[in-house]
Amino acid sequence: MKSACSVNTLTSTDPSGKALYMNSALIDTTVELLLKAQHVIVLTGAGISTESGVPDFRSPGGIWEQYDPTMFFIERFLADPEEVWRCLLDMNSSQEFKLFDAIPNKGHHALAYLEEISIIQTVITQNIDNLHQKAGSRHVIEFHGNMLYAKCMECSLKSGYKKILEDLEERFPPRCPCGGILKPDAVFFGEAIPQGALKESFQEADNCDLMLVIGTSAQVEPAASLPMIAKGMNSLLRGLGTIPIPKQQCHVIEINKEATPLTGKVSDFLIQGSSGEILSIIEQKIRRIKD
Ligand code: APR
Repeated sequence: MKSACSVNTLTSTDPSGKALYMNSALIDTTVELLLKAQHVIVLTGAGISTESGVPDFRSPGGIWEQYDPTMFFIERFLADPEEVWRCLLDMNSSQEFKLFDAIPNKGHHALAYLEEISIIQTVITQNIDNLHQKAGSRHVIEFHGNMLYAKCMECSLKSGYKKILEDLEERFPPRCPCGGILKPDAVFFGEAIPQGALKESFQEADNCDLMLVIGTSAQVEPAASLPMIAKGMNSLLRGLGTIPIPKQQCHVIEINKEATPLTGKVSDFLIQGSSGEILSIIEQKIRRIKD
């Protein structure tokens, strides 16, 4: 009989600094479900990137404690693009934010490995940091766009952020060769989710039989509805009208430092702790089984 202490291993601290004990029994269940599932998707949020030095939004000390969220309302950008660009460059130059130079952590690498051996089919990310792609994940749906590019408001030509930073001396706010103002290619509040990303994400959520939800507070719609669609809990969102067509059984598993509105209501269970630690243990267990 396993003693209690062998089930829980200290992994990290929660946002308030309380010690977090990772439940290894739940990790074993997750490994079993990953090996059995036919269509596995992952929904990630800013929490998966904090171990790469990119702060999340709502934890203590997060981005919304340091910057005014209204700065990222589309109306504000249209009214005063210079002000928003100045804020972005301030973020980029401050020590706490390693957005453009951040490197993937073991959580990103674990997901890339699981996709490489065809255990995971798709990563839907709310993050705009490009870290899943840098880690080698190939099928990544960017639900909120990608901050490493900017798009011309006139002709939609895309420019890379590095180039924009180089050209800043000549022209501020950054402009496209056509003269149009460049806007970061991330989705601002009040902007629509890119149509293709929205449609594909809803389809993936409708088709999956296992969804991992990692590092998100699950507070921002419509991303926060994807786990409910996976559970078949909302036929309207599934584009099926009001007919509650039953969906194949789907497990939804959270990996997060804290409970969220999904916990105990939508997700099967929460593995509480550091996403990097937990995903790395899952990867090692699956490597041992596969070897
Ligand atoms: N391991 C596991 N969980 C973590 C870690 C970690 N290392 N670090 C932080 N977390 C958890 C936090 O406890 C929190 O519950 O990740 C979650 C991050 O939540 P948010 O900061 O709200 O980020 P996210 O859910 O991605 O926000 C969604 O809101 O502001 C908008 O557009 C922005 O895409 C973003 C959206």
